[in-house]
Amino acid sequence: MTKRDFGENFNWGVSTAAYQIEGAYMDDGKGLSIWDQFVRKKGKILNNENANISADFYNRFEGDLALMKAMGIPNFRFSISWSRIFPEGTGKINSRGVDFYNRLIDTCLEYNIQPWITLYHWDLPLALEKQGGWTNRAIILWFEEYVSFCIRNFGDRVRNWMVLNEPMVFTGAGYFLGVHAPGRKRLSNFFPAAHHAALCQAEGGRVIRSERNGMNVGTTFSYTHIEPYSKRLKDISSAARIDTLVNRTFIEPLLGLGYPTKDFKSLSPIEKYMKEGDDKKLQFDMDFIGLQSYTREIIKHSYITPILKAKLVTASQRNVEHTNMNWEVYPESIYHCLKRMSQYPNIARLIITENGASYSDLEVNGEIRDETRKAYLEKHMNQVLRAKKEGVNVGGYFVWSFIDNFEWAEGYRPRFGLVHIDYLTQKRTIKYSGKWFKNFLKNSPY
Ligand code: GAL
Repeated sequence: MTKRDFGENFNWGVSTAAYQIEGAYMDDGKGLSIWDQFVRKKGKILNNENANISADFYNRFEGDLALMKAMGIPNFRFSISWSRIFPEGTGKINSRGVDFYNRLIDTCLEYNIQPWITLYHWDLPLALEKQGGWTNRAIILWFEEYVSFCIRNFGDRVRNWMVLNEPMVFTGAGYFLGVHAPGRKRLSNFFPAAHHAALCQAEGGRVIRSERNGMNVGTTFSYTHIEPYSKRLKDISSAARIDTLVNRTFIEPLLGLGYPTKDFKSLSPIEKYMKEGDDKKLQFDMDFIGLQSYTREIIKHSYITPILKAKLVTASQRNVEHTNMNWEVYPESIYHCLKRMSQYPNIARLIITENGASYSDLEVNGEIRDETRKAYLEKHMNQVLRAKKEGVNVGGYFVWSFIDNFEWAEGYRPRFGLVHIDYLTQKRTIKYSGKWFKNFLKNSPY
């Protein structure tokens, strides 16, 4: 497999997110986000860690982009921290925050790196959460204001935009399970949050398109290949329910198919939050759909799990190869996800906006020999190529992640980067996988 096999116009890149790398959580007029608040609560994050400093990308982005350039990486996906620009979520603008993103974008362009910007990667301004956050329908207006500001100010230099990062994860983990910010539980929070996120995903697209011509508009979804634990009917229907919930809830209304309530009845209460005309408002014709795919999940029936009546049989329980997130290494899953997604009519183009693996990378004599990550990436890229050769319109692959970073509730233990971060000294070291990727991008074997 060489880069050439993927064709000339294939977008190769790396992905990050503001909260996970920037640090500087209170600097230069930034307002707090729900994550800044959530990490303060005891017991929410492994070892009670936080991303107040993290990889300090806010202060070190120039050096990091120089490294990216040296690695020959042509596309960089990052997100904008909403509360750096609007400290209160809406209204007054923080010009120093705007300035940071201007410098970041300009430096990318100077280095011939194309920015791909995610508008919302989970760090809602805390001021908006205090007014209900995603459960308040007014979020559509707040979000419109924020998106339109970003396109007006950065759209002259940035063509590639993604509206949301994984709405199922931030509404499910943040408003139902309570394991991510803002830490709310209960379906009465989840349903309105999910519906408003689905509306914002389409509305964000409309705002981008109406503000400027020529934008490449997309949004991203977590997408996991799901299989039943056994051939028992109960396991099969449990797996189908989970698949409907996690893989279909947000993409189908966007495509005009509505919420998949027929295949998962417990999702029906979401319709209670629909207002007249919402089925149209949920739709938008994206230029591309970003898929973020890491693993396969095996689902078994469970009487005791309320509503879902299903449980995950983890990779370690099954004794199969896994990363240190306990995610099975199963490269074919990305192929199945691409094939299945491509069966929907009306998807213009697919892009793998995240794929990667976390291992506990040990530094030995200044080197990080992460052969397992290299093998993971190579195998997954091969499966992307397999799908492409079979006619799937997949136009890009972004590694999660460029540098090690704060992995949400898991803190700093999982390391996903092609570049190692020593959090004590902030020293950057390109890992073996990073060197391999660099050589791959040069089109030469390593
Ligand atoms: C995604 C998420 C990223 C990153 C990655 C690895 O769900 O968008 O922020 O954390 O998973 O877990």
